[in-house]
Amino acid sequence: MSIIKAEHLKYRYPNTEKLALNDISLEIEKGEFIGIAGRNGAGKSSLGQAINGLVPRFYNGAYGGRVEVNGRLVEETPVEEMCEFVGLIFQNPFNQLSGAAETVFNEVAYGLQNLGIEPEIILSRVEQVLKRLDIWQYRDRNPFELSGGQMQRVAIASILCMEPDIIILDEPTSQLDPQGTEEVFRVVDDLTETGITIIMIEQKLEKLAHYADRIILMSEGRVIDFDTPEKIFSRDDLSEYGIKPPAFTRICREYGLSLPDGTYPVKLEDTKRLFLEKNIRPLKEAGTGALRLNSKDGDTEELFRMENVDFYYTEGTPIFQKLSLTLNNRPTAIIGQNGAGKTTLVRLLKGLLKPVGGSIYFKNDDISKKTVAMLADKVGYVFQNPDDQIFKYNVLDETMFGPLNIGMSEEKAKEEALKALELMGLKGRENVNPYDLELYERKMTAIASVVAMDTDVIILDEPTIAQDYEGRKLIGDMIRHLSSEGKLVIAILHDMDFVEENFERVIVMAHGRILSEGSAEKVFSEDEVLSEAKLQKPYITALRELLGA
Ligand SMILES: Nc1ncnc2c1ncn2[C@@H]1O[C@H](COP(=O)(O)OP(=O)(O)OP(=O)(O)O)[C@@H](O)[C@H]1O
Ligand SMILES: [Mg+2]
Repeated sequence: MSIIKAEHLKYRYPNTEKLALNDISLEIEKGEFIGIAGRNGAGKSSLGQAINGLVPRFYNGAYGGRVEVNGRLVEETPVEEMCEFVGLIFQNPFNQLSGAAETVFNEVAYGLQNLGIEPEIILSRVEQVLKRLDIWQYRDRNPFELSGGQMQRVAIASILCMEPDIIILDEPTSQLDPQGTEEVFRVVDDLTETGITIIMIEQKLEKLAHYADRIILMSEGRVIDFDTPEKIFSRDDLSEYGIKPPAFTRICREYGLSLPDGTYPVKLEDTKRLFLEKNIRPLKEAGTGALRLNSKDGDTEELFRMENVDFYYTEGTPIFQKLSLTLNNRPTAIIGQNGAGKTTLVRLLKGLLKPVGGSIYFKNDDISKKTVAMLADKVGYVFQNPDDQIFKYNVLDETMFGPLNIGMSEEKAKEEALKALELMGLKGRENVNPYDLELYERKMTAIASVVAMDTDVIILDEPTIAQDYEGRKLIGDMIRHLSSEGKLVIAILHDMDFVEENFERVIVMAHGRILSEGSAEKVFSEDEVLSEAKLQKPYITALRELLGA
């Protein structure tokens, strides 16, 4: 018997015209691992929320059809009651934190305490989940004083330890390092063995395809297809739905290597087997679609120099000790484990944090003593969480704020803002209130508002969070565009394929130290460094190595 059954589900948010969910009928069996794929705005989160009852009970709006979950009619069941058997992990972990707990441990235990579960059971369950997600060492820390990825782990832990019958995860790994991402997939996959049903919305299609039993392909509020990952990702029309198939599917298609049923593989192992059977070695460029970079040739003027920088948030817990680094204007990616100090590093460059010891120079000017305002027109910084940055009531005002603040004329500020909005795919959205935008659009707004300032340096803290393939491409094009103008683009990223395709220099961090740096090719060949920094190789690189190519 199916645990979730939707029949002709239709839904429209209040004060909107388009159907967010348009005539959805589907059945999901107990213990299945279901993936939901589709471009930004396809209706994935809305479908997830229609299963836990936030749609329609929290948002209201127009609702039709019926959804039955665990034998209960969603529309008629109070959200509090639904929450006991359907756990939802939100896209932005910040929204998940209760704010009621002063430590990570209590935050994660909070839901269990509300259910009146015995203290010993709470203790052991929370310990187990925190250890599995590698945040046990932070159990006594304030949840709001964590790195983005650590916070996302707390949000995941708080739902997992409640062991609901159904768990819906809305892009749960967007801020996790590659090994942390893998672990989350493994944990929830293990849960399906115990009969828990998993529904995961993800843009990391290689991982989703590897673990999911079936994938729901959505577009414009509709279910286009609901089938095995191989069938879904072998469709010929995926680009219509804004989907770039997993790397392994792409490369097999390129080489005409299909499985007996005519579909293409989605997993590394199947791909490797087919290549070995046919004795083919894939070419270096195969499957990546990588473009050559074109930052100004030969121009390697030093921009930043950090000398023996010491930093801590709390005395006695050093983050950096004698850290030294120079940056010139080649597009630079900073990668590494959650909590490595990536965000802290760029905040020092921006002047938002001050070093405790050592010096930081920008164009030979000691900036350790300067205020943020004095650097504002030189260094732009896009926050990891766009909600920390956005504060105006319409997208255009938000985008013009930075330029006006650094002294641009109204006219020039508007011109730069409109240009930046167009670059980030937000043309036509100028009058919308940012709070009515989806996370991916808020992130784009935050990027546009910094690009509009026309600074020499642009720092992007995890720009690809919540972005689909088209959004990532837009960001890649933006990076190339700014680099070709001679600007320095620095980005923190967890998407290794994106790093390989878009950056000339890669800096690997772990535990407040720089473990390695150089070209993508160089750092991705250093197995020990990658493992210490909890990273994984880009997919095609991994395949080529396995094949000895
Ligand atoms: N406000 C704060 N107070 C105390 N400690 C903090 C604060 N912010 C971050 N930290 C700690 O500093 C260390 C470095 O954090 P940082 O945010 O720089 O990491 P990160 O590399 O950006 O990680 P992520 O990939 O998860 O975003 C982490 O151990 C984190 O817990
Ligand atoms: Mg960070």
